[in-house]
Order: sequence, then structure tokens, then C-alpha cells
Amino acid sequence: MRAKMIAGNWKMNNGMAATADFISGLEKWFAEGEGQKAARAVKSGRVEVVLAPPFTLIASAVSAKKSDLIQIAAQNVYHKQKGAFTGEVSLSMLEEAGCKYAIIGHSERRHVFGESNEELEKKLIATLESRVLPIFCVGELLDERNSGSMKHVLTTQLESAWRSLTSDILADMVVIAYEPVWAIGTGQTASDADAEEACDYIRTLACDKFGIAASDSLRILYGGSVKPENSRSLLSQSNIDGLLIGGASLDLDSFEKIIETSL
Ligand code: PGA
Repeated sequence: MRAKMIAGNWKMNNGMAATADFISGLEKWFAEGEGQKAARAVKSGRVEVVLAPPFTLIASAVSAKKSDLIQIAAQNVYHKQKGAFTGEVSLSMLEEAGCKYAIIGHSERRHVFGESNEELEKKLIATLESRVLPIFCVGELLDERNSGSMKHVLTTQLESAWRSLTSDILADMVVIAYEPVWAIGTGQTASDADAEEACDYIRTLACDKFGIAASDSLRILYGGSVKPENSRSLLSQSNIDGLLIGGASLDLDSFEKIIETSL
């Protein structure tokens, strides 16, 4: 059975005090009432809770944590180990800071900062050679969906990224996040059926390339305007193994309610 992942992407939000408050508030919730059920699900490996703060807040998040119930992710990474790359952060830095995951190819990285499929392949490979695990994002623009090319876009984004991976690596180390760009931050969530269709398609692509066992183990998340009101039905889709949450992950109460719907 695939463990569910509930991951909050804070984007460029929050500060040190807010980070420490959020982490200690979430750990307090895990220790009481409904939260205890969530803590048991995390400890037994059925659910994983991840937060991705901005780079400068990773250390605050890690030092605020008193338990292993929350894992920390970076929102981006650079593929080189070290050197003259002003403004970039390496995998060994993320590892040392306490990150378990790094988000790669978020739609804002692709479309606001112009990261190409070629660069994202390098980031994915470098991440898989480190001890940080990738959450690799894919998704189509509104025009691409309207012109019927959603599957073509997902195929291109994935095939260029995972062409040199092995089945074992895909199964054990990679998380894919399907995030249709038109649903991110717009309040326009994909319908359960649309989200499931895309995640099912991603699993089919993985099956064709890596075989049924690897594709059955691959975790696929949905992201795009997830809220407590829609998270349960998204999570009940057979190919959706978790959620990548932007706006609603900034509010502790909403984030806790979304975790509850994964139990
Ligand atoms: P959103 O963002 O939940 O605010 O739509 C999702 C994401 O960008 O990961």
C-alpha cells in the first residue's frame, strides 16, 4: 500500500516566528484529540506530513520540530554540488539543513522562472544521487488542456525527466506531483475525475516504461487549490496518493483538517 503524503508548499510566505509557531502548533495538535489519530497514522507509515518552507526558514522549521512527525522539504534545488552559482542552493546544503525532500519543477519554477525540461532532468538526477528525495512536479497550462494536449504535455515533461532512471529508483525514491497550472492559486480545483484521469495517465506512463511493480509503488500527488472541502474526495481517487497544498497550507487549521481527511 502506498503511504499518503500531505505536503504543504509555503512558497514565498511566512517568517521565522510564524514558522516556529506553525510547527509547534501542529505538533501540539498531533498530541491531542483528532491529531493523535493522525500521529498514529504517521508513525505507522500510512501517512507522511511534509512542509516546504522557503530556504531561509528551513533551519527554523527543523529546530522547532520536536518529533519526526513532520518532514521538511525545500522548494527548489540546484544540481551542482558547489561553486560559483550565485543565488543557488545545493543538495548537500539541503541535506545538512535537515531536508528529506526537494520539490523540483514546480509550475512557478517552470513558468515564472523559465526552468526547462532539460534543467529539471539534471535536478532530478542530482537529487536521486543525494540523500534528498524528489517531489517532481508536472502539469499543463489552461491552453494546453483546452486544446486537448494534457497527455502530450505530461508525457513530454516526464519522459525527458525520467529517461535514465531504473524501476527500483522510480519505485523507492520518486514522488510525482500532478499540478495543472490553471488550478494553482486560482481557486479552480480540478474535478476529482480530471485529477484522477491525469494521475492514472501518469501511472500508465510509468507502467509502460518501468513495469507494473514500479508503477504500483509510485506515489502520485495532486496539487492545485486543495482545501479541506475538496481534499477527502480527491484523496479517495485510486491513483491520487496525496496532496501538494499551497494557500491552504499556510493556515494551521486548514492544514490539520486536510491531514484529517487522509486518515
Ligand atoms: P495552491 O498551490 O494550493 O495555492 O493552488 C498549490 C501549489 O502550487 O503547489
